[in-house]
Amino acid sequence: MILSKKACGISESLTLSIDAKAKKMKSEGYDVVGFGAGEPDFPTPDFIVQAAKEALDKGFTKYTPSSGTPLLREAICKKFERENHITYTPDEVIVSNGAKHSLYNIFQAILNPGDEVIIPRPYWLSYPEMVRMADGVPVVVDVREEDRFKVSAEGLRKVITPKTKAFILNNPGNPGGCVYRQEELQAIADLAVENRFFIVSDEIYESLIYDGQKHISIASLTDSVRDLTFTVNGMSKAYAMTGWRIGYAAGPKEAIQVMGNIQSHSTSNPNSIAQYASTVALNAPKDCVQKMVKEFDKRRLYMMERIRAIPYLSFQKPEGAFYIMLNISQCFGKHHGNTLIHDSLSFSDSLLKSRMVTVVPGIAFGADSFVRLSYANSMDNIRRGLDRMEEFINELV
Ligand SMILES: Cc1ncc(COP(=O)(O)O)c(C=O)c1O
Repeated sequence: MILSKKACGISESLTLSIDAKAKKMKSEGYDVVGFGAGEPDFPTPDFIVQAAKEALDKGFTKYTPSSGTPLLREAICKKFERENHITYTPDEVIVSNGAKHSLYNIFQAILNPGDEVIIPRPYWLSYPEMVRMADGVPVVVDVREEDRFKVSAEGLRKVITPKTKAFILNNPGNPGGCVYRQEELQAIADLAVENRFFIVSDEIYESLIYDGQKHISIASLTDSVRDLTFTVNGMSKAYAMTGWRIGYAAGPKEAIQVMGNIQSHSTSNPNSIAQYASTVALNAPKDCVQKMVKEFDKRRLYMMERIRAIPYLSFQKPEGAFYIMLNISQCFGKHHGNTLIHDSLSFSDSLLKSRMVTVVPGIAFGADSFVRLSYANSMDNIRRGLDRMEEFINELV
């Protein structure tokens, strides 16, 4: 049987498979501490759960318009106006099965074979694969840890070609935890306007931001950059709704229409009950989100303090999302038992086997000198996990 060459070239999502491995080991009775999670450990806030029950009781269980209910798209427009200072109309908005699906639809809608999409590395691992799935060419631009994993306009300029169709901005960033300042965004926006390429601005972590930083949406800067930008967001991270699968994108009306057509033939509407509950969530005050952010911040500070005291490990302070990119390069060349630690996979494997701690090897993000630790984890787990990691590092010879 000959399968599609394009499809066979797409790799499995390593973060999802590591998470699945940790969950499986736990279910088999192993005492695993997982730092791999890409999802809040909190339950979905109760008023959102109640709204879903209300949707069921009301019989809101049928197909909706495939690009999302008018009420949810209106709530999204109000959210963009209120929080991001961008004016969108409902026909410039599409609701999809998670932000991941919105991103997938964007690349399907804008790319022709051979079109280039610039992606800063370390990157969220789905970006290059999504671009490939749409016959595009990922063009990677390396960013430096010293620059807090942010791409500069100069760095970006070097990789722009006549084939550049889009640039992916992940702000706040996964895995680096970076948060872009206004002047940095303005310089990127100017380049996009000058060279006429799209900006795909993935803002899924916008609410998870610390140290008094402010999230700025690049589309809010000027009308000309707004017209070239897709602003992507969703319910998963801010509202602890990863399993509900609601994400959304706003952008140029013509492209949103094409995305809607694709969605209408592939998935139809996102889950009606989840859409109903998301509408209630977006129209409510954000106290529940603020509570979670406070808790994440406590964990972030605790983790940073602990890691600073462990030899051979270093990091740049993350300002957003819920990850720490741990530089492990000082461990390379050392042994744990018989195992030589020489890259992120050997580090992660050895840590899991000897101490039952999962981390995500940086190679998944194109950064082999790092492992990613998530602090979307209870304080107790974080403490136990770091105790074990400290023992592991102290055993390196
Ligand atoms: C950078 C980034 N974008 C998008 C997503 C997708 O989120 P969703 O659950 O809405 O599909 C994730 C989830 O891990 C992410 O880390």
